[in-house]
Amino acid sequence: MTDSPDMHEKMKLATNPEIWAPGGPVEDWTTDYDIRDEAYVENPVPIWAEMREKCPIAHSERLGGSWNPTKFDDLRAMAGMIPELSSRQVLVMPPAPNAPELSRYEQMIAAAPITADPPLHGWTRRMLLPAFAPRAVTRWEEYTEQLCHELIDEFIESGRCDGAVDYSQQIPPRVIAHIIGIDPGMADQFVEWVNMVLGEGLYDPQNRQKARDEMIGFISAEVAKRQEDPQEDLLTELLFMELEDPEANITPQVVIGITNLLIVAGIDTTWSSIGSGLWHLANNPDDRQRLLDEPDLLPIAIEEMLRYYAPVTMARVAETDIEYEGVHIKRGDKVLMNFPAACHDPEHFEDPDEFVIDRARNRHIAFGSGIHRCAGSNLARLEMQTAIRVWLERIPHFELSDREPMKWAGGQVRGPRIMPMSFPAGQRR
Ligand code: HEM
Repeated sequence: MTDSPDMHEKMKLATNPEIWAPGGPVEDWTTDYDIRDEAYVENPVPIWAEMREKCPIAHSERLGGSWNPTKFDDLRAMAGMIPELSSRQVLVMPPAPNAPELSRYEQMIAAAPITADPPLHGWTRRMLLPAFAPRAVTRWEEYTEQLCHELIDEFIESGRCDGAVDYSQQIPPRVIAHIIGIDPGMADQFVEWVNMVLGEGLYDPQNRQKARDEMIGFISAEVAKRQEDPQEDLLTELLFMELEDPEANITPQVVIGITNLLIVAGIDTTWSSIGSGLWHLANNPDDRQRLLDEPDLLPIAIEEMLRYYAPVTMARVAETDIEYEGVHIKRGDKVLMNFPAACHDPEHFEDPDEFVIDRARNRHIAFGSGIHRCAGSNLARLEMQTAIRVWLERIPHFELSDREPMKWAGGQVRGPRIMPMSFPAGQRR
């Protein structure tokens, strides 16, 4: 497909450094929202309620322009608009001004299957499904549990820790490195890169691009090593996989993109969810006591944590003009996939803005909807359950420190990034 002039203009606009400039505080959330706004990052729940009521598919010119649906049914419908809404640009922020121009194919394999449309999407997703099936992920439980204990051993005697930095953030990078077959000692480096790609880097396009380049360089070297010397690990498995699919064309480039996705998608998301869960339990002693009294409630409580604090907002780009519910989406427009807002829609959840720890009906879409629904959800649930279970076993009573402030990250992935906590020191295993 050749790009029309209007599309070309949009691409130029998207790489224009000026669109990164802060646009000042938001005064009207229905016409001028900014997902970087402090109030939105701190607590978007009341803002979504206002947007849903006044203008359920809002538009803002900020950050190069985007649409923002906040109703469950609209999110589900839009996630199904394929190929009209393409996944080849899933970042909610515009590309860095110095980002290289990529062809459609390069965009799609950059982090397939999440950045791919069919047919590329189908076979790249199938490459991943066996490793992340419900039964397959149980083999990582022991490693995760051991890791959680080791992390807690480091700070339990002191009676304080940063629940985000010292605990939540440490778990997913080590687990995913272990699964892929990369030295878990790289975990801190992964966190730094992912933070730049999805977190702080959203406000710093130059460094975001640099981090992305470094990460791809590292993964490419790991792939090259396994081409020479195959190992017993997921990376080797992906590289030498054979699929019975005439469309499949597994090249090192495809495997680099998939590995990039596993690191990016598997880290920030799950650490945010573990962190939000701990934040909730620190602030809500009744819910914490309920879990201490009824540990079997944990899987249901985890679903409510996923719903209430759903971390991930994605994006799509319109491949054609779309008329939907009176809204005119133009070819080249960005549409935010605001799954977190959909998880608070009163048409689908009773008392959606209440956290109900034993919520019985909870068909949330924190993991997305449709063909791109999270392929790592079984692993994410396993990590969340293990992390919160072990924490509660070791540190049943804890609170947020009143001495130091905490910090949330927002934008593409929302969760606590700095979360000082205190608790009675020295509880033992
Ligand atoms: C609580 C943690 C997690 C949340 C909330 C989450 C959320 C999501 C969401 C919303 C999507 C859909 C993206 C879209 O529609 O564009 C997605 C896709 C995906 N996630 Fe997760 N994710 C989590 C953890 C993980 C983990 C641990 C992994 C694996 C290491 C993972 C791997 C993937 C993959 C491969 C896709 C792409 C699937 C496809 O395009 O077919 N995620 N995730």
